[in-house]
Amino acid sequence: MNDDSVNGLSNGLTNYGDKDFALYLRKSFARSMGYSNHMLARPTVGIAYTPSGFNNCHRHFPEMLEAVKRGVIAAGGLPMEFPTVSLGEVFLNPTSLRFRNLMAMDTEEMIRAQPMDAVVLVGGCDKTLPAQLMGAISANRPAIGLVAGPMMTSRWHGERLGACTDCRRFWAKYRAGEIDSGEIHEIEGNLATTAGTCAVMGTASTMASIAEALGMILPGSAAIPAVHADRLRAAEATGRAAMQLARSRLTPDRIVTPQSVENALRVLMAIGGSTNAVLHLTAIAGRAGIDLDLGRLNEVSEGTPVLVDLKPTGPHYMEDLFAAGGIGAVLRELKPLLHLDCMTVAGETLGQRLAAPDGPVDRAVVKPLTDPLQPKGGLVALFGSLAPKGAIFKRSAADPKLFEREGRAVVFASLEDLSARIDDPDLDVTPDDFLVLQNAGPLSTSGMPEAGYLPIPGKLAKAGVKDMVRISDARMSGTAYGSIVLHVTPDAASGGPLAKVRNGDRIRLSVAERRLDLLVGPEELARRSVTAPPLPERGYAQLYRREILQADRGCDFNFLRKHPLAEGRQ
Ligand code: FES
Repeated sequence: MNDDSVNGLSNGLTNYGDKDFALYLRKSFARSMGYSNHMLARPTVGIAYTPSGFNNCHRHFPEMLEAVKRGVIAAGGLPMEFPTVSLGEVFLNPTSLRFRNLMAMDTEEMIRAQPMDAVVLVGGCDKTLPAQLMGAISANRPAIGLVAGPMMTSRWHGERLGACTDCRRFWAKYRAGEIDSGEIHEIEGNLATTAGTCAVMGTASTMASIAEALGMILPGSAAIPAVHADRLRAAEATGRAAMQLARSRLTPDRIVTPQSVENALRVLMAIGGSTNAVLHLTAIAGRAGIDLDLGRLNEVSEGTPVLVDLKPTGPHYMEDLFAAGGIGAVLRELKPLLHLDCMTVAGETLGQRLAAPDGPVDRAVVKPLTDPLQPKGGLVALFGSLAPKGAIFKRSAADPKLFEREGRAVVFASLEDLSARIDDPDLDVTPDDFLVLQNAGPLSTSGMPEAGYLPIPGKLAKAGVKDMVRISDARMSGTAYGSIVLHVTPDAASGGPLAKVRNGDRIRLSVAERRLDLLVGPEELARRSVTAPPLPERGYAQLYRREILQADRGCDFNFLRKHPLAEGRQ
């Protein structure tokens, strides 16, 4: 074994103007932790470790950490975990997205600043894996991800439940008066019952799948349930692989390439993945200097069928995808469409991985390419006078009857306005109207929440209306569904056309033509004024507002992209 290429604790010495002294001091302090000189002479593997009392999805990380360390030590390395920001999706105000870039900065700087030859990124809840990949790509040290894995499902009165499509489904029933407060309380205790990430093809599962397609986590590891023994075996193997990466100096810039990003985009389409993943993949690619163009997204979507039948669009859960063959089964079906020469953290190309013998595949969950669930991808980008730089529509989770139509706008100026009026019995709204939410985009004070899944107005919900066209600059949870146009860009807070929509305006949606148009003349629009939110006085909130890019750039900070944009946020 030759470790000449690694430096262990000698990496990046603290600057005292005397290198030998800096190493002597570092080693003497490291010895205070009880390490032998034998261990301190080994290559070091940092483990970006993100358990938190505010992150239920990561509650099994202590045993995952032990398994990663076992793998690193077995391969001749010294594992050293270090904490970073952790983002528990439902515990953050105003939103977790607001803090994704903060976590990415933390991860990048701590990888770069501390003496490690490779890093294992242990994450999983929605924003954590994107943040870790963004940071690791920018730091460009050998890096490998390890995801939390999905939760197991639970039962309520014999019905299978999993976070969080079923959270929304039952909440909608409660709002419509179909179940009572006692029942919704019982359901609340059965939606999320194990460690791990949401049990459906939500954002966390989508990002884990994308990370496997990108080549940044070990083959076969995206879908292993959090509580399955294979998860721990994958953690141990990840530790061993990190040592291999340290020795081979295989850095993220050789793995995250335009070809592997396109592979990830294909997998996103084939799994019917979360709309949030478009933002995250755009931001991840941007860290590698790769522009993910929404026009190209439409081309890939046209040429990639939906193969995976999971909630929120189908009946199955992530544990079923694992049992059905996992993302490997999906990649094998997509093989004719993929760039097979892309390198992975396993030290082999995607083509080499897929040349290995296949296991059994459950065709109820993963359809063959020749007989797909849907002939085209789940997501499309829309463009038009209401969204000059694009908007995202999840056609696989929407009602095709609403795809081609014109409607009257019923406008809510903010989340507060929405919450104050949506259930007003006097609200002037019909099922044929388009609900429009403004000021919920990246530049708004609300931090681009997952509020695009506007509730059906109370009086319509009680009358049995299940879906309507809803348009906003907000995001939508990957576990949600409906005829919902999201990420309208530029957003309202930056003065985009969305800010100028008024009650009664006509809007035209055509999914077939990929169009979203506000049918109001330019003279009238010029008469309508918009007010930008004030710049926060200080701190991260001010940095965020100064640097945040629009959704078409993945909502990264401009100065964190590999090539900052000369035109900035516009
Ligand atoms: Fe963590 Fe859904 S809340 S993945």
